[in-house]
Amino acid sequence: MEVVGKDIQNFQLTVRDHSDYDFTEYSHTSLRRRLTRILLELEMDMDQLNSRMKNDGEFLKKIMRKITVHTTEMFRDPDVWKQIKNDLLPRFSSQSTIRIWHPGCSTGQEVYSMMMVLDELGLLEKSEIYGSDLHNEILETARQGVYKYRFNQSYLENFDRVILNGEGTFSMNQRKHWKKYFHIDETRDTIQMKEFLRQKPVYKKQDLVRDPNLFLVNFDLIVCRNVIIYFNTDLQNKVFELFHQSLKQHGALLLGVHESILGVCSKRFIRKDPFYFKAQE
Ligand SMILES: C[S@@+](CC[C@H](N)C(=O)[O-])C[C@H]1O[C@@H](n2cnc3c(N)ncnc32)[C@H](O)[C@@H]1O
Repeated sequence: MEVVGKDIQNFQLTVRDHSDYDFTEYSHTSLRRRLTRILLELEMDMDQLNSRMKNDGEFLKKIMRKITVHTTEMFRDPDVWKQIKNDLLPRFSSQSTIRIWHPGCSTGQEVYSMMMVLDELGLLEKSEIYGSDLHNEILETARQGVYKYRFNQSYLENFDRVILNGEGTFSMNQRKHWKKYFHIDETRDTIQMKEFLRQKPVYKKQDLVRDPNLFLVNFDLIVCRNVIIYFNTDLQNKVFELFHQSLKQHGALLLGVHESILGVCSKRFIRKDPFYFKAQE
């Protein structure tokens, strides 16, 4: 069934009027794709979907989780992680505290990647790590730090590239090094992050559309990757303002490889690929 502009607008209004969420400033392209998939899976049409969302709070919550994309992985885009490790984080090494926020951190693999890199540089202990997302259930997975082994196996190649400076030829023989950070149980098909990493971050449910910075501190680095791609230009600009206010002087912002700051907010940041630094005020 084809999802047209009017369907998307009706969906956005239903959500806005019947929940704490607001997708009115999300890009139609992504909403159309997700809605088409949801309708197929649930064998419903748009009228049935909207009507059930209005009358069934649990169903609405389920749809909210399905409408947002949660895809993530350890050391996603390893070349960017190499730059984080070699060029960016050493800038903060003389500070007494390093504060890093991951808005839209999904199930946490990005947060764990950051902590491993910080640990390799001897900076983990003096770092404060904050993670947030739209959904509490997703953050619970981040807190648990347990992932499917087989599903995530290829990401271990990126561990080799970033942490071991290798060629992506991760093998079980490298056990000694990764054992420091996670435990692989092939029988149970799990990768379990070690306790010292799991207990480190502070996680909070935070909606970039509606909420301010809920952590009440300013950050040296904000890593918000593959989140604003789902927002329209107006909402992107609002979020860039929030990030600008939440960064310390000379703080850095990192977006996804397909995301950039264009238009009114570009004057507020100095671009040094792949990072954006807060411009002097
Ligand atoms: C594709 S994942 C990106 C995960 C991770 N940053 C990465 O790049 O691997 C996008 C995440 O953004 C979250 N998200 C979407 N809209 C949001 C909003 N308004 N506020 C906070 N998080 C949001 C989703 O719940 C999802 O977990």
